Amino acid sequence: MEIVILPDTTAIGALAADAIVNLVQRKPDAVLGLATGSSPLAIYDELAARYAAGQVSFAQARGFTLDEYVGLPADHPETYRNVIHKDFVDRVDFAEGAVRGPDGLATDIPAFCAAYEDAIVAAGGVDLQILGIGTVGHIGFNEPGSSLASRTRIKTLTRQTRIDNARFFGGDVDAVPTHCLTQGLGTIMAARHIVLVATGPQKAEAVHHLVEGAVSALWPGTILQHHPHVTVLLDGAAASRLQLADYYRETYQAKPAWQGI
Ligand code: GLP
Repeated sequence: MEIVILPDTTAIGALAADAIVNLVQRKPDAVLGLATGSSPLAIYDELAARYAAGQVSFAQARGFTLDEYVGLPADHPETYRNVIHKDFVDRVDFAEGAVRGPDGLATDIPAFCAAYEDAIVAAGGVDLQILGIGTVGHIGFNEPGSSLASRTRIKTLTRQTRIDNARFFGGDVDAVPTHCLTQGLGTIMAARHIVLVATGPQKAEAVHHLVEGAVSALWPGTILQHHPHVTVLLDGAAASRLQLADYYRETYQAKPAWQGI
């Protein structure tokens, strides 16, 4: 894992956007793995600004989102499909239908999940996956106890995740759906480059396990320690429990800027 500790979310957004713009310039039909949540917002803001400035186009790119609530009506503002369109997709020039996500209203859920896996493979696999991490250590919605080899499937949300996400549902934890569809840990691990963003003190424990803890289904993000190309972008608060924080800072400072992430 490459650990990069930056001053703030703006710096994180800029560095991640550099990597995505480089990818799309090199490979215009790149496949992006898109995450919802507050962590990637600075990346999407930066990409939207660079698109508006004529520096990048997503016209040939494709995207797959990580997860979705089960059972929310299609026009509910908190479906992850609607959120990712509002936060990113509709602010740039993706072609109609180029960004796909799990269907939380699918009638045959196992068949839908298998087809979603097939669609990612048919697109050539994910070139760059953006990730956040939950306070419980989930990536996507792979809650503690998830199989480290899991594929897209239905999951039950933990009480803590529903509490964390109640802020998007008027503060009412009972309004947060109980189930979700999520790419599995095995699905996420197949991406060629993974860029995980975490900020704020509430993420410090999850980041501590993610980077320096034992690989365990109790902290599902730890599976990323087995991935050959993961970049973890942190602010100082999220990095505050890392034992080797000084070493990560020195390592990154010694890296030539042109190498990017
Ligand atoms: C959410 C999503 C994840 C996200 C995580 C952290 O519930 N399912 O994909 O990365 O929890 O969210 P946030 O970035 O808002 O803290």
